[in-house]
Amino acid sequence: MIELHDVSKTYVLKGRGGGIARTVPALKKIDFHVPAGRIHGVIGLSGAGKSTLIRCVNLLERPTTGTVTVDGQELTGLSRAALNQARHRIGMIFQHFNLLTNRTVFANVALPLELMGVKRAEIQERVTPLLELVGLADKASQYPAQLSGGQKQRVAIARALASRPKVLLCDEATSALDPQTTASILALLRDINRKLGLTILLITHEMEVVKSICHRVSLISDGELVEEAEVGDFFTAPRTQLGREFLNDFLKLEPPRALIERLEETPGTHSHPVVRLAFSGDAVSTPLVSRLARECGVDVSILQAKVESIQERTLGLMIAELMGPAEKTREALAYLESHDLHVEVLGHVQRDA
Ligand SMILES: Nc1ncnc2c1ncn2[C@@H]1O[C@H](COP(=O)(O)OP(=O)(O)OP(=O)(O)O)[C@@H](O)[C@H]1O
Ligand SMILES: [Mg+2]
Repeated sequence: MIELHDVSKTYVLKGRGGGIARTVPALKKIDFHVPAGRIHGVIGLSGAGKSTLIRCVNLLERPTTGTVTVDGQELTGLSRAALNQARHRIGMIFQHFNLLTNRTVFANVALPLELMGVKRAEIQERVTPLLELVGLADKASQYPAQLSGGQKQRVAIARALASRPKVLLCDEATSALDPQTTASILALLRDINRKLGLTILLITHEMEVVKSICHRVSLISDGELVEEAEVGDFFTAPRTQLGREFLNDFLKLEPPRALIERLEETPGTHSHPVVRLAFSGDAVSTPLVSRLARECGVDVSILQAKVESIQERTLGLMIAELMGPAEKTREALAYLESHDLHVEVLGHVQRDA
């Protein structure tokens, strides 16, 4: 549904007198595909290029090179008039809602239809069910200033849906909202995705958002897509250092500070591995710790543990020290890996230190 091929964007900053003062390479050769009906998240640090990326999808920002195709139509090859038509199939919502303050809720949602030349009677017919869909049927004649942040975002969602788009772009749509309101807006987006089959591309710097509604996630760093995975896989085993940092930050699952200070990269003759284990599916309910003791002769000291629910999967996470002779702990690691656990050795601590 959304395809970016080899998309780069370089901002050119003009100096005094109109000469080029500086160029900012904000996106570098992005290849990216979101199939119809999916919710795809893009996560990255501030300045990574997230907004630039999402704005390239509806050509609010024109890529310097590369092609953008939405719903089978290559937007980068269209005339201005044809592009305006094509944009009706792409809705967008923003962090700060961007509502018109001098228009009522109803009139805000009606605006795109007015611009499309839809007749008044039909506007009436189309706006009312949209307000019902977002739970604001009773607020039709109120003004944005009379609404809470969550309600404003609901109006913006209804407005974005007015032209019956196939794609919804969300630029940090919940970043200005408190956690509870965020959850309700995300639930609404999930609902819309299911009911209308709408494809959603959302950018965020919050893992919570990715965890609660995305099917797939891309990680962007310094204008490059560095990692992409199904959400369950990403939370189990991110493949890049940045991915691991995002995850650890979110899970707050780190070995105790005193232990971190003692961690050594290479095993010594008398040291124990400290591991991060991630397991999902059947492995969650396996009595793992007692088996390691029984089958490998290794004692497990659990330093931290957590169970997370991601999409329909249960994910278990644990930081543990494996205690036993070197050959036994090696066997234990192999045992864990053969049982569909993701194992990361964080380091080694000297025994009896
Ligand atoms: N209109 C612009 N002109 C020049 N440079 C820009 C422009 N917009 C963005 N940039 C630069 O491009 C880079 C990417 O910015 P972008 O806004 O896409 O990042 P972001 O990931 O959305 O960040 P944030 O999380 O802070 O919103 C940054 O270095 C930014 O300063
Ligand atoms: Mg941004």
